[in-house]
Amino acid sequence: MTVSQDTIYAQASEQISDFQFDNRVAGVFSDMIRRSVPGYTQIINTIGDLADRFVIPNTQIYDLGCSLGAATLSIRRQIQGRQCRIIAVDNSESMVARCQENLNAYVSDTEVDLVCGDIRDIDIQNASLVVLNFTLQFLPPEDRETLIAKIYQGLNPGGILVLSEKIRFEDAPIQKLLEEQHLDFKRANGYSELEISQKRSALENVMKPDTLPLHQQRLTDQGFSHFSLWFQCFNFASMVAIK
Ligand SMILES: C[S@@+](CC[C@H](N)C(=O)[O-])C[C@H]1O[C@@H](n2cnc3c(N)ncnc32)[C@H](O)[C@@H]1O
Repeated sequence: MTVSQDTIYAQASEQISDFQFDNRVAGVFSDMIRRSVPGYTQIINTIGDLADRFVIPNTQIYDLGCSLGAATLSIRRQIQGRQCRIIAVDNSESMVARCQENLNAYVSDTEVDLVCGDIRDIDIQNASLVVLNFTLQFLPPEDRETLIAKIYQGLNPGGILVLSEKIRFEDAPIQKLLEEQHLDFKRANGYSELEISQKRSALENVMKPDTLPLHQQRLTDQGFSHFSLWFQCFNFASMVAIK
């Protein structure tokens, strides 16, 4: 897989439009997410390990907001021979087209249904693992509870949801500190001040992070019996919730 460098916000623009997962973003997404999200590679690898632990033969796995298929590929590597089906969903045609190419590049006995559609319209059934890896934050806040409820209903007892998100903090000095640490991470990965500020403007209206207590409350309100944060680096977190 060739990885193109993300230079989308490198030139000054008079007007910054809202961020979209369009063809331009899909073309550089691997580079963008690794240079922007601390711990991304570890999270992808751990999703594979969790699949190995939790995926039961003859069940289904859902990768909601699959982008280029990184989590799906990580899961698929771990569950050979279990007669499972992975349903990978994204509403960006450009992401789905590139995801299909990535899936085709590797041989596997696990079927993947790659769906170009809205995760709010997907039926979830007989699931042992559901992944929301940096996707829930892009749904309108008022739609998040309904999606979590649907995931809970579609999981089998003992099934697991992996939820990774950018998080915000009610405590202002902590919010400021962790935000600055994240910006330093981006600078260390070669993003300029212009790129950082233009991308921030583009994301302002489309990505609305929740706090960790709100995530936990929403998950337990819907019935999940067990919850833990298993990863945090600055203002990025990954959680598990078990039915
Ligand atoms: C930050 S990316 C997710 C990264 C990916 N899960 C990974 O691990 O590499 C968010 C993805 O969610 C998709 N998305 C956002 N809202 C969606 C929705 N309502 N339905 C389906 N996909 C959605 C976007 O197109 C984008 O590809």
